[in-house]
Amino acid sequence: MYIFKKVSDLQHHLEKESEAGKTIAFAPTMGALHDGHVSLIDQSNEIADICVSSIFVNPTQFDQKEDLEKYPRTVDADIEILAKNKCDVLFLPEVEDVYPDGMEAKEQYDFGQLGNVLEGAHRSGHFEGVAQVVNRLLEIVKPNWIVMGQKDYQQTAIIRRLLKLTNSKTEIVVSPTIREEDGLAMSSRNVRLEPDERAEAPIINEVLEGVRTAADKLSVAMAKKEAILKIEKSGSMKVDYLDIVHFETLQSVKNWDDAEQLVVCTAVHLGKVRLIDNIIIT
Ligand code: PAF
Repeated sequence: MYIFKKVSDLQHHLEKESEAGKTIAFAPTMGALHDGHVSLIDQSNEIADICVSSIFVNPTQFDQKEDLEKYPRTVDADIEILAKNKCDVLFLPEVEDVYPDGMEAKEQYDFGQLGNVLEGAHRSGHFEGVAQVVNRLLEIVKPNWIVMGQKDYQQTAIIRRLLKLTNSKTEIVVSPTIREEDGLAMSSRNVRLEPDERAEAPIINEVLEGVRTAADKLSVAMAKKEAILKIEKSGSMKVDYLDIVHFETLQSVKNWDDAEQLVVCTAVHLGKVRLIDNIIIT
C-alpha cells in the first residue's frame, strides 16, 4: 500500500493511474478503523481498479471540542488494517495539507431542509464541515466513486446533494451498516463506552427493529413514542432524537405509506458517548 502525506505526491501517483485507464474508488475515514470501514474498502475493491482511503480527523465537523479531542486516534493499527484488506493508496494528511488557506469554509452550500433536520438540528455546523472536507478531498483524489456507510445516513444524503450542487463527476455508493453480533452498529466511538454502557447499547438496534414490526399495529406517532420510551426505560440512555423520515427528503412522515422507503433514525446519549443508528423500512 502506498502512503502519501502530501497532496502533490498523491495527485502525481493517481494521475499516472488514471492515465493508465484505472478507475478509482475512494473511502474517506477519520481513522479508528473497524469492520464497518473494512466493508467500505471491500466495496471499493469490488467496483474499481484502485482503492484509495484517507485518514483525517476533520476539525471543522466537530461541534464539541471534547468530542474532537477524545476522538480515538489509532493510525498504526489503521495502516495495518488497510494494508491487510488490500487498500491500494492511503492519504494521510495534516490539517495544513487539507486546508492550506485556513479552515474557514470558502463555499457555503444550500442543503435546504436536508441539513436542518436530525443531526443537522442537533450538531450546529456539522454538515458544513463534512461538506467542506469531502469537497476538498474529492478535489484532491478525483475518484470515480466515493464509498460511504449507511450508518451515517444523513451524511450520505448530504454528500449526494453536494455532488449535484458541484456538478461532480464522482458518484456515491452507499454500503450497508455493519453490526456487532449483538446488533450494535459499528462505530469508532464504541470503544469509549464503559463495559456496562456497552452491554446496554444493543437496545438501540433492538428498538429500531421493533419499529419495523410495529408498522403493522401502531401509528407512526405511537411507534416513535414507544421506541423512545423503550430506549430511555433503564434511565442510562437519553434520546436526542428518534424520527421516521422520508428516505430522500429526510422529512418526518405521518403515515407508513408516505414514501416507498422510510428511514428510522436515532441519536442516543449513553454516558459520555453519543451514538447514531438507523434502519431502512421498505
Ligand atoms: O464519516 C466520516 O468518517 C467523516 O464524516 C468523513 C466522511 C470521513 C468526513 O470527515
